[in-house]
Amino acid sequence: MKPDTSVKIGRLKLKNPVMVASGTFGEEYRELADIRSLGAVVAKTITLKARSGNRPPRLVETPSGMLNSIGLENKGLDFFVKETLPALTRFKAPVIASISGDSEDEFAALARALQKRKGLSALELNLSCPNVKHGSSEGLIAQDAEATGKIVSEVRRATQLPLIAKLSPNVTDITRIAVAAQDAGADAITLINTLFGMSVDIETRRPRLGNVHGGLSGPAIKPVALKIVWDAHKKVKIPIIGAGGIMGHKDAIEFILCGASAVQVGTANFVDPRSAVGAIEGIKEYLVKNKIKSVSQLVGRLET
Ligand SMILES: Cc1cc2nc3c(=O)[nH]c(=O)nc-3n(C[C@H](O)[C@H](O)[C@H](O)COP(=O)(O)O)c2cc1C
Repeated sequence: MKPDTSVKIGRLKLKNPVMVASGTFGEEYRELADIRSLGAVVAKTITLKARSGNRPPRLVETPSGMLNSIGLENKGLDFFVKETLPALTRFKAPVIASISGDSEDEFAALARALQKRKGLSALELNLSCPNVKHGSSEGLIAQDAEATGKIVSEVRRATQLPLIAKLSPNVTDITRIAVAAQDAGADAITLINTLFGMSVDIETRRPRLGNVHGGLSGPAIKPVALKIVWDAHKKVKIPIIGAGGIMGHKDAIEFILCGASAVQVGTANFVDPRSAVGAIEGIKEYLVKNKIKSVSQLVGRLET
């Protein structure tokens, strides 16, 4: 029996549930991993104009994970359309663009510009960016249910592409934000982006990141991510894409049991660029071994 690994994320049909996460994988991995076999590739977040990002150092290894403070360094929309997108679509795996901005207008402008781009399958909104109100910054957009809803509905008006809202774990109650994204028209949510964190060098008495703090990712955050997916799964009807410390198929299946319809592999790509491809194979074997016909039958089937 060949198990059915296909999943649906709104209107988007994927041949398997394993994507690579934004900012952790690109076309430069083509010789190291079979990009063609991935469920989808989420591109690195872009903004309208190029950004140079935060002060180095920007990456620090931590126990069971890493901290990054890249700060949305990217070459902007035009470069993405001319170079990145054509390079990624060659592999025939669905490509999802990740967009971010300082205002509703910037998000909507990006969505409009990407609406008719050949080969683009969906948009992921990176809402872990400053919530700029009245000229001052008040936390992240994804920490504010109202701001999240506003951005999602603006982008919803600007595009017919499937819309995925990527949310932050740095909140008291994820379900409020997840429901706001759903009610504003998101087709799916990605949970989670990185957790706030710091690392300190006691010899220099300085922070190890140039930006002082950054985002924690990798296996260290998996238990937090699973709980967030589980909580959201009980409250939202739209599909959840799970992320946070997925190193292989066993981690991916944990997320699926907690309610994720698909998963993203991020930090693991820095350890082994074949991690996501390996997870796809492992999920297939698990389905065969357990005589489960389709991966979608496992979604949210945690026995409690
Ligand atoms: C170096 C690095 C860069 C990242 N860049 C982005 C980004 O541009 N946009 C985004 O939405 N998430 C970004 N992320 C977050 C990941 O996509 C993912 O949500 C997070 O790392 C948790 O998954 P993981 O533990 O498998 O890495 C980045 C993570 C890392 C480690």
